[in-house]
Amino acid sequence: MRLNIAIDGPSGAGKSTIAHMLAEKLGIVYLDTGAMYRAAALKTLRAGIGADEADAVVSLLAQTDIDVAYENGVQKMLLDGQDVSEAIREHRISQIASDVSKIPQVRVAMVELQRAIAAKTDSVLDGRDIGTYVLPHAAHKFYLTADIAERARRRYNQLTQKGEKCDIEQIQRDIAARDHNDMNRAFAPLKKADDAIEIDSTHLSIDETAEKMLAWVTSAQKSGGGESAVQTPQNDKKKTVKKKKKKKDKGAGFFRTLFFYLIKAIVYLPRKLLYPAKIIHKKRLPKKSAHIVVSNHLCWKDIIHHVFTLPRRRSIVAKQELAKSRFIRAFRKTAGIIFIDRENPSLESVREILKTLKRGEPISIFPEGTRNKDSRELLEIKPGAGVFAVKTGAPIIPVMVYKRAKTFRKNYLYVGEPLDLSAYKGMRLTSELTEEITAKVRAAMLRTMEEMDDYVENKRWKRKNKKAVTSDETT
Ligand code: DC
Repeated sequence: MRLNIAIDGPSGAGKSTIAHMLAEKLGIVYLDTGAMYRAAALKTLRAGIGADEADAVVSLLAQTDIDVAYENGVQKMLLDGQDVSEAIREHRISQIASDVSKIPQVRVAMVELQRAIAAKTDSVLDGRDIGTYVLPHAAHKFYLTADIAERARRRYNQLTQKGEKCDIEQIQRDIAARDHNDMNRAFAPLKKADDAIEIDSTHLSIDETAEKMLAWVTSAQKSGGGESAVQTPQNDKKKTVKKKKKKKDKGAGFFRTLFFYLIKAIVYLPRKLLYPAKIIHKKRLPKKSAHIVVSNHLCWKDIIHHVFTLPRRRSIVAKQELAKSRFIRAFRKTAGIIFIDRENPSLESVREILKTLKRGEPISIFPEGTRNKDSRELLEIKPGAGVFAVKTGAPIIPVMVYKRAKTFRKNYLYVGEPLDLSAYKGMRLTSELTEEITAKVRAAMLRTMEEMDDYVENKRWKRKNKKAVTSDETT
């Protein structure tokens, strides 16, 4: 795995200076991602296009070549092949860069380049969305801040040293406006990643800040891992953070699991009586390893089958709206429910799912994203299950329910052939590839439904015929 270090934070917190020092000390590449947005801003300025004219900016940039090159380890920003490293540093470019960076298509193009660089070389990247969006799995993440007056003072010194005339109060106002812009844009805004280490550099020198980060990185490397294994040299408080994190990673824990199986034992008879179920091809469900069960969702009782009827304790991915129910919230951890916003899944819920699978535990997902109240036809499905399978190598196992669960009547759960998507592991999930994978998952679900229908109908037919034969014999 590449060593990637993400440093995010507001303007003027010292990210680029520190990132540069860190990269130099570690002997790895430094990528200033802000420079890319600055190059895009310079191009729009030169073309006389306003940063708010999103369509015009997008079509202009589609015909523009933005690239980075390295000369003696120093990053050069190339705009249509021309070195613009100096030109993009002008103060007026900063606000335009912030405005241009709000346009999703611009970000997607820049992020693609950033990820490509990070994938092929050990690197320190600084920006606004590195730890949260560009490299959510970066080995080390920092969020560098400083008091706004101090940031304005530093920027003022930088600009006056270069001979630019400026007013410190105006600079502070500009920085505040940029902070607001960068933190409130809709797509990949500036925010601290949950697992980033926050450093306030207001009262620290550049050297002190760089030393602090280096100490985190090197001690984490020594203890054999990324951020979760990081151990701070001086700060005891942070050691507790480390302990807590380790504990969290163990999953449900012994007592919660025990409690779950106790409840499962208690509800066993009532469940069998009320919702008897037959699992066909149960053996297709792995006994020990991680897998992703994908299921159709016809009524709320399907949840009972996933929690109590299917073997093992499995995490159930449920829509965020269910978190409103106090009862479900109370049972969440015991049953392993992971809430997810279907339209805009948060990074935390995605991480929780990936961690669960990486621990070797199974999860259940209803990829249609909602209960199908009108028919038993499979609706369009969301891409999540396929993406999780590709990211973790866990197989997809379709488990389809025959009909809406009825009380006191036998319910059929049909386990389909596992779908192995591990061939896609490590590939970049472009929208085309994600579509391809999603189509495969849906096809596997449809196939399982067909098999299930044949199975149940065949069984009924046999039963009917047997009855007819026996009644013939008796007459
Ligand atoms: O770091 P900087 O000041 O050179 O960045 C200029 C602008 O680019 C910043 O205001 C927001 C944008 N930017 C971004 O949106 N995402 C990044 N990863 C880096 C910069």
